Amino acid sequence: MYLLYTIFTSLAFFFVFKRMKRRRYCTDLTRLDGKTVLITGGNSGIGKETAIALAMRGARVVIACRDPDKAAKAVRDIKFKSHSLNVSHMELDLANLRSVREFCKNFLQTEKRLDILINNAGMPSVLDWTDDGFSMCFGVNHLGHFLLTNLLLPRLRECAPSRVLTLTCSSYKYQKLDFQDLNYNLLPFFTYCRSKLANVYFSQELARVTEGKGVTTYAVHPGFVQSGWTCHFSFLFRILMQVVMWMFFVPCEMGAQTVVYCAVSDEAAKHSGGYFVDCRPATLRPFARDSGVAKKLWEASERLVKLA
Ligand SMILES: NC(=O)c1ccc[n+]([C@@H]2O[C@H](COP(=O)([O-])OP(=O)(O)OC[C@H]3O[C@@H](n4cnc5c(N)ncnc54)[C@H](OP(=O)(O)O)[C@@H]3O)[C@@H](O)[C@H]2O)c1
Ligand SMILES: *[C@@H]1O[C@H](CO)[C@@H](O)[C@H](O)[C@H]1NC(C)=O
Repeated sequence: MYLLYTIFTSLAFFFVFKRMKRRRYCTDLTRLDGKTVLITGGNSGIGKETAIALAMRGARVVIACRDPDKAAKAVRDIKFKSHSLNVSHMELDLANLRSVREFCKNFLQTEKRLDILINNAGMPSVLDWTDDGFSMCFGVNHLGHFLLTNLLLPRLRECAPSRVLTLTCSSYKYQKLDFQDLNYNLLPFFTYCRSKLANVYFSQELARVTEGKGVTTYAVHPGFVQSGWTCHFSFLFRILMQVVMWMFFVPCEMGAQTVVYCAVSDEAAKHSGGYFVDCRPATLRPFARDSGVAKKLWEASERLVKLA
């Protein structure tokens, strides 16, 4: 009797989890021959799967990573899995604005095109500071990408129609921005949420800035994904999260689907500035659609990264 009960509940759990993990694949098969894609943090997790998927569609793929050894290894993997040799890596540390400027200079010199920029790299809930003294989440997830995108924008305009994707997270909704304290660094999860909210505002304001100039922008929530993000945490937490991820999170390949969708789909291009979940446009909470706040964040960011 007890055995039967155990089997029954396990089966029930199994089907509930399976259902929760069901997600949509990107069914748009558009090719990207002749186009160049730049992916930040493409050496692991969602970024790497995105790189494989887009290289398979014929794009030239450049991954921008802070660790050259990890990057070289990832490039080998991406080439092997995508059957494409048009993949390379360049050094970029988003926690250092000088590195971002250096990277853009190199990139603009060596690469002729930029059709799709994917702001994918991200720090999870970690309390730390960047080399420039910004809170780690805000500095890497938002400011680094803000500067990067602005410096690459002329090239994106030249290659229009082009796209800028920014990875965010549905947890943006748990926090609001505090303009007195953009470098909020108190509760780890909340610093992460705020940086992902900043990504949402950034993507919307970028859509306004580039309107009519052939550049479209997308904020993407990839779902909850079994990627390498737990490596920043303690052993105990990693073990615990391994179990949680196994039950509730989707594999990286699945996590890349909405990113790929926004990179290629004509349907997505009709919603520039939009927020995308599960391969379709989704609705943001009203406070996150406030264009006044988005503009204010843009201007504050320009000052912080000394973009003038
Ligand atoms: N996993 C999820 O459930 C989930 C949910 C919602 C949103 N997201 C978002 O999805 C994006 C990708 O995350 P992931 O899940 O694939 O995590 P991941 O496996 O940890 O990948 C993060 C990538 O960002 C890179 N990175 C971190 N700091 C960097 C820096 N200072 N400069 C350059 N690159 C840096 C990492 O490089 P290293 O290998 O050198 O550390 C790594 O390649 C993130 O923006 C994340 O916020 C993830
Ligand atoms: C690599 O991709 C670029 C841009 O898509 C293209 O112009 C170039 O011909 C490709 N190179 C090779 C060797 O396929």
